[in-house]
Amino acid sequence: TFDVQLYKPKLHFSPGQNWINDPNGLVYFEGEYHLFYQYHPHSTVSSTMHWGHAVSTDLIQWKELDVALHPDEQGTIFSGSVVVDWNNTSGLFPDEPGLVAIYTSHLEPIDRNSQQTDRYTQQTESMGHENPGGEVFSTAAPDTVSAPPYLDGQCIAFSHDRGRTWTKYEGNPVLTSSTDRDVRDPKVFWYRPKGYWVMVVATGQNVSFYTSRNLLDWKLESRFGEGFGSHEGVWECPDLFRLPIEGTESWKWVLLVSTGDQPELGNGSRTQYFVGSFDGRQFMPEYNRIQWLDYGRDNYAGVSFSDIPEQDGRRIYMGWMNNWRYARELPAGDWNGAMTLPRTLCLRPLKNQLLICQRPVAELDRYFTEKHKLSGITVSNKQPYELITAAAIADIRLRAQHDGLDELTVTIHHTAEQYTTIGYHATSELLSVRREHSGRSDFDPLFARGQQVHIPYSSHLNLRIVLDSCSVEVFAGDGMYAITSLIFPDQACQRIVIQSRGGDARLYDSFIYTG
Ligand code: FRU
Repeated sequence: TFDVQLYKPKLHFSPGQNWINDPNGLVYFEGEYHLFYQYHPHSTVSSTMHWGHAVSTDLIQWKELDVALHPDEQGTIFSGSVVVDWNNTSGLFPDEPGLVAIYTSHLEPIDRNSQQTDRYTQQTESMGHENPGGEVFSTAAPDTVSAPPYLDGQCIAFSHDRGRTWTKYEGNPVLTSSTDRDVRDPKVFWYRPKGYWVMVVATGQNVSFYTSRNLLDWKLESRFGEGFGSHEGVWECPDLFRLPIEGTESWKWVLLVSTGDQPELGNGSRTQYFVGSFDGRQFMPEYNRIQWLDYGRDNYAGVSFSDIPEQDGRRIYMGWMNNWRYARELPAGDWNGAMTLPRTLCLRPLKNQLLICQRPVAELDRYFTEKHKLSGITVSNKQPYELITAAAIADIRLRAQHDGLDELTVTIHHTAEQYTTIGYHATSELLSVRREHSGRSDFDPLFARGQQVHIPYSSHLNLRIVLDSCSVEVFAGDGMYAITSLIFPDQACQRIVIQSRGGDARLYDSFIYTG
């Protein structure tokens, strides 16, 4: 027996009750950050999708509001985005600007001849039976002529009251395809140079770009994907935005593409990205090479906030801190699922490529009450640094200088038996996060397997580790490499140990913040 409340995050969004997956409709409007999310309001399993809703003024502390979008005759409510229609381009806001949600209505006819039980089929099957909330919506009957020719339609809903209540547009769906399957997760943004809206939407193992003047009529402009990137799984939750190149006045376009789980292959569901240019119609990648956003297993379906004020200027990202491979097997009490920390993104050149750098937003800092200074300390194998703390949250920021060593490790001891190890190994040049002894980890063989990223050897090491009740987020090289992992220990922290093997490491500008 265990108490799942133990795992309740303190710094991360998680629902008070029930199942969540992807973040949806991330938008800033009138002093509030909005987080909508894939939500099943009646259980802790992935089922009939709704849009849940939470708001925050600092991106860390969230207040849950009523469910924003409920399933209807067009289907369940899959992922999508929200924009502010500042200039009433849609005609839906004659009086003052308001919010428009662009989401996927998902309907999948049941193929009775097939034993196929993917999660979308299960989802639709459950629509007809399980309806404890008393919502009225119908299922597509199998093999009926009335079934629409499309399975996924892109739909619009709008709100005049800061997202508190929503009206579905009567002309839904505004976009359908009779040929594409798995058309999902529209992300819309205003393309200023041409004065129109752009939608990037996943279409099977591509993404498609559409444009519109009014958010209602959409025109296909181009597709991207064939011959580029990883096609290990279906493409989902794309996002396209400009990112500044750190330390310069220039910027590039970045396309994020979440890539679904393919059970026989790889690492489960994960997110890749492409760096390139965009002319308002077409995305052109700079080079053809697979780049992953995160080397941990638990950062998926992430997208960025819309309408962050220009004077703020940040591109803020948030992902679902989970992996479809084992999301349904994880310990759940009355809630299931959490988001990653919100992270600010930028680009940094490394050799002949540009890497996304991510850092937890600065708003996080004020949640830590104690500061432990580590600067001036030298650690070795014989002389580890140890901090005894029962803190539920910690932000470990290390800078180490060395003249050669085999390994530098940070071990978070959760209990006498349970620990998570973050280590940089000099010969292999690998940074790894090991969670096989971190507590409950037997949900799926992939969960306990090591997670690692190659980081070129240097005499300076930089690590930031944010620990919360059920997660460890590691950022190395000033945000250039991220490893996001869920953990399920019986207690968050008992002691933190830093040590090196095969050489000393001198810590400078180093702190552990706890709270
Ligand atoms: C990604 C995803 C999306 C879809 C949603 C359904 O995790 O599969 O493509 O819209 O989840 O919940």
